[in-house]
Amino acid sequence: MRIDESTATRTIPGYVTWAKGMPNLNPKSEIRNPKSFNLAVDVGGIFMKNPVMAASGTFGYGDELSTLVDLKKLGGIIVKGLHLKPSAGNPPPRTVETCGGMLNAIGLENIGIEAFVQKKLPFLQTLETPIILNIYGNEVDEYSGLAERIQDLEGIAGIEVNISCPNIKAGGIAFGTNPKTAFEVVKAVRESSRLPMMVKLSPNVSDIKTMARSVVEAGADAVSLINTITGMAVDVATRRPKLANVTGGLSGPAIKPIALRMVWEAAQAVDVPVVGIGGIMNATDALEFLTVGACAVQIGTANFVNPRVTEEIVDDLASYLTENNLTDITQIIGSLKINNKQ
Ligand SMILES: Cc1cc2nc3c(=O)[nH]c(=O)nc-3n(C[C@H](O)[C@H](O)[C@H](O)COP(=O)(O)O)c2cc1C
Repeated sequence: MRIDESTATRTIPGYVTWAKGMPNLNPKSEIRNPKSFNLAVDVGGIFMKNPVMAASGTFGYGDELSTLVDLKKLGGIIVKGLHLKPSAGNPPPRTVETCGGMLNAIGLENIGIEAFVQKKLPFLQTLETPIILNIYGNEVDEYSGLAERIQDLEGIAGIEVNISCPNIKAGGIAFGTNPKTAFEVVKAVRESSRLPMMVKLSPNVSDIKTMARSVVEAGADAVSLINTITGMAVDVATRRPKLANVTGGLSGPAIKPIALRMVWEAAQAVDVPVVGIGGIMNATDALEFLTVGACAVQIGTANFVNPRVTEEIVDDLASYLTENNLTDITQIIGSLKINNKQ
């Protein structure tokens, strides 16, 4: 993915087509200097004023953070994974701090789509920020049933399909670790919904490029990666696992190098926008993901350290552009230089 500096209008996937002289899409930049820079991106049909989203499962349903974060400032909010039915998730302990991150085995606790529509959606509809519903199921029909239910809801910008869930029919192996089952589930969602669809890839695979190609072939408008990496922690005093579920998903700064490598590989493998996730704690981390080809990023574990981090990263990206005499975030996306070739 390369940027053609000779043309002001860009056609690389994930870019809002923006040409010199067009109104700047970023409200903040309008206040500072009308034509100074552009932070807006198009993530597979979801138009965002900046490339910073809150990651699923680390930001509740948005409303819980509303007194701490200016939600209108964010590029997008991805709500906690939703299922057709409510679920209590796994028994505790289900989170543990690790070196450079955390393990979680929440087990996809959620209030269920109907309670979400009644109790959470009305507030989210008052925001100007794109709301993306993260969905999961244990069977293909559950994914498509959810996608159908969401299709006509007001105020939903898109769906993020979490394929890191156990496929009951395939003996509990996650949909997202096999290109065929991943294809099947994404195709079913595609056939049930016209909403922009981002598919969230599992890192627990040996070949992320094949997984990315498979979901794009099935109809994904964008891919996001990575979800958590399976890990475990042991208490030597008791010789017991620290999580009741024994294993859990590792997230936070510890996974950033793996996430960066996978995002870089995925960006080369597919023509749709790629969204980078994994250990992003600040704007510099976000810029690393944009450089390797992500058109936007999601912030997860960092929200537990600093609930205002998403908002701060938006501000810091804006400052980075002005301080470096850049006019458009697209000048950074995919700009990685390897072996002095570029
Ligand atoms: C406590 C917790 C709950 C999560 N719940 C979900 C979820 O419901 N759906 C999902 O797709 N990802 C979920 N994730 C994964 C995150 O969205 C993200 O992909 C992952 O944590 C890596 O990013 P990070 O290192 O910035 O946290 C969860 C992560 C954590 C830490």
